Amino acid sequence: MTENLIIFNARVVTPVGFTARHGREMSQLQVIDQATVEVTDGVISYVGPNRGEKRDGYYQHYWHYNARGKCLLPGFVDSHTHFVFGGERAEEFSWRLKGESYMSIMERGGGIVSTVKATRDTDYIHLRSKAEGFLKQMSAMGVTTVEGKSGYGLNRDTELMQLRVMRNLNDDERKRVDIVSTFLGAHAVPEEYSGRTDAYVDYLIQEVMPAVRANHLAEFCDVFCEQGVFSIEQSRRLLLAARDLGFALKLHADEIVPLGGAGLAAELSAVSADHLLHASDADIQAMAQHNVVATLLPLTAFALREPYARGREMIDAGCAVALATDLNPGSCFSGSIPLTIALACIYMKMSIEEVITALTLNGAAALNRSHSIGSIEVGKKGDFALLNTCDYHFLPYYIGMNCVSLTVKEGVLYPIN
Ligand code: NIG
Ligand code: FE
Repeated sequence: MTENLIIFNARVVTPVGFTARHGREMSQLQVIDQATVEVTDGVISYVGPNRGEKRDGYYQHYWHYNARGKCLLPGFVDSHTHFVFGGERAEEFSWRLKGESYMSIMERGGGIVSTVKATRDTDYIHLRSKAEGFLKQMSAMGVTTVEGKSGYGLNRDTELMQLRVMRNLNDDERKRVDIVSTFLGAHAVPEEYSGRTDAYVDYLIQEVMPAVRANHLAEFCDVFCEQGVFSIEQSRRLLLAARDLGFALKLHADEIVPLGGAGLAAELSAVSADHLLHASDADIQAMAQHNVVATLLPLTAFALREPYARGREMIDAGCAVALATDLNPGSCFSGSIPLTIALACIYMKMSIEEVITALTLNGAAALNRSHSIGSIEVGKKGDFALLNTCDYHFLPYYIGMNCVSLTVKEGVLYPIN
């Protein structure tokens, strides 16, 4: 659904450009006071100072909204989530609170594989309605585009079912959030392939990935490149095959140990490398050189009691950094944009201007969409988050609290509460 809309008296706060912002560019926001933004058929047709409303038909053909000086940002892009899954893992969380590690739970058959069991036991309708619930919560925090991964099926039919849920939600006329789908069959090794990781990679390459492509169910292919999960060699083999099939590439890289996944992302010119808690200096340089978006997920580090990714150093090294939530039932059961913002500013030493770029234009770049979303510029989608404040510094300052009062999707207004 698209609309014609005029938002006037806004303080527009936006990064500028149609590609990722790197390094110092990330802090350069455009701020326009007393601004009008006009959206025609869902696409931005004017951004600039308020102007007289004297043109013929102006009032008849557009909805009008007085922003009363509040900040209007591009809609947030949550470029890394796992929001389609069956079951939850609250018990596992309590084990972790007592000191057990994420990987030791995974090694004894819990973790991702236990969500795989629950997802295989969930039917399409339930999977869809649960995922739809998450989308509503995201929209209320100003998210207008989300990436979602498969990876809780780990067999052809259940992987396809997860991806079909996302496609169906994305095809919904009344959707508030656009969905970009990623195939993550290489999320863990399922029980039926236990001890035969290479055979599982062969199965994914030969039987699952072609079916995903044939049904146009995912744009990206991702892999959990981690010690004890998929090695650098196995990840490279999988991603090269994915690239041949036309997938764009992503990696879960250097999350638990410094394995070199970020370097592999640079070698393969992946669109993004994600997590990066233990990325080396050399691999950070390589990501900057090869235009790999460094997608940082501070909620996961927080929930796992791990050190945060070196966001400040990455920006200083010239990387394009994106921020996302990693919403999933295991390592990070939270899709909180407000807390992501606070953690990035407080612990990763990013400025609020950099954080806004990371959650909008650079998130869009991490999804190959910086040409169409991620900033408030003519020709991009009319997707916005209107804050309840004139001062965007409240975003990290009002810690963990929602400053968004209105989400706009392609010109359609969705007030919060
Ligand atoms: O991004 N690390 C791998 N994948 C997810 C966790 C998934 C899960 O625990 O269910 C992550 O942290
Ligand atoms: Fe993840």
